[in-house]
Formats: sequence, C-alpha cells, structure tokens
Amino acid sequence: MNDLSRQHHWEKVYTTRGESEVSWFQETPALSLELIALAGAMPNSAIIDIGGGASRLVDHLVSRGFQDLTVLDLSAAALASARSRIGAKADRVTWITADVTLWQPSRSYDICHDRAAFHFLTERNDQAAYIARLRRALRVGGHAIIATFAPDGPERCSGLMVSRYDADSLAAQLGAGFELIDTRRHEHTTPWGSVQKFQFSTFRRAADV
Ligand SMILES: C[S@@+](CC[C@H](N)C(=O)[O-])C[C@H]1O[C@@H](n2cnc3c(N)ncnc32)[C@H](O)[C@@H]1O
Repeated sequence: MNDLSRQHHWEKVYTTRGESEVSWFQETPALSLELIALAGAMPNSAIIDIGGGASRLVDHLVSRGFQDLTVLDLSAAALASARSRIGAKADRVTWITADVTLWQPSRSYDICHDRAAFHFLTERNDQAAYIARLRRALRVGGHAIIATFAPDGPERCSGLMVSRYDADSLAAQLGAGFELIDTRRHEHTTPWGSVQKFQFSTFRRAADV
C-alpha cells in the first residue's frame, strides 16, 4: 500500500465510523496505562502515542496530570475527533498528522507507545523506516511499548493485512538497541464481543552498539 492510499484508507475509516464502531475501541486502555506507569512515567515525562488515532489513552493521560503528551497519526480526522472530545485541555497536547514511516522527529521522548499501528506495516522497507524513526525519537534509557496482534490473533484489521508478532519476533524485528523487558499476552474484546489476541511488549532503549 502506498502512502496516499494508506492515508485515504484511514481518513475514510475515521470519517465514516463512530468511535465505538471500530474493532479496536477501548473505553479505558488499562494495560497501556499500566505499562506506561511501569515504565516509570513521571508527570513531566515526554510520551508519544504513535498511531494513536482517536484513542482515549490521551484523555486518561491528560487527566492523570501528564504534561508533555504527543499523539501522532496518519488521519487528521482521527486526531480532530480526539481533540474535540478532550476540549480545552487538548491544547496541552501536541498533535502530529504524519505517516510514521516519513515522520522526521524533531525531539526525543521518554516513552513511545503504539497499540496496533506498527502491525499494519507489512513491507520490509516500511518496517525499517518505522524502526529508524523509533530509534531516533526514543532517548537512550527510554521505553517503547508496542502492541500488535499476536501470532494467534487476526490476520487482518480494518480490511488490511497485518504482521503478527510474539515478543521474540518483535525483538528480532527491532534489532540491536532495544532490550525486551516486559511481555504480556492480552485479549481485547471488540465492541461487538469478539476476542482478539494481542501481544504487548516493552523495550528499553539501550545505547547504540
Ligand atoms: C487499529 S488503529 C489503532 C488506534 C489506536 N492506537 C488505538 O489503540 O485506539 C491503527 C491506527 O494507526 C494509524 N496508522 C496506520 N498506519 C499509520 C502510519 N503509517 N503512520 C501513522 N499512523 C498510522 C491509523 O490511522 C489508526 O489510527
């Protein structure tokens, strides 16, 4: 899928379907919040949600007093929907409309979170572009929390093929410089009651070798 058709796909999803009409909707992203806390997040930690879409993760982080939050997504409609939901406090968040494979990070982050965005990158060059940007954006000692469909999870999401991972295959994909420190299997129940198997993995950014 090229960059334009990818963007078109996601804009269409977010302009034609309500928040709870997408399989990935979560009222409270409890496991993400738990893993962000375990990563040692402090109120002034720089946290970015990559492929955050219209997720409520940012609402919960704002209400818990985090002050340096960024949400990046390909879809401007998804970010607009999250912004309007949050209201005035949305001004405290940095919103970046970008394709992560083309993104040029202008600063570094303590925590990079991604739930169900990386797994849409099924081509080697896109995966490498993402990892290069993660490497640049995450400070040494910082944490990357990446959730993908597990090997026994769905083959597709939103009509698109995904790459599924367990913790070891994701660690191998990320390569040197990312130390696996926590791994969880997770069952997500969609708004219509089906169960999707996810894998959440946390990596600590080690110094470049
Ligand atoms: C399944 S949704 C998950 C959204 C959110 N992380 C959540 O948990 O609710 C995948 C998200 O990844 C975004 N996405 C897909 N490919 C992307 C890319 N190349 N760059 C940035 N965002 C992307 C989509 O727009 C969409 O919001």
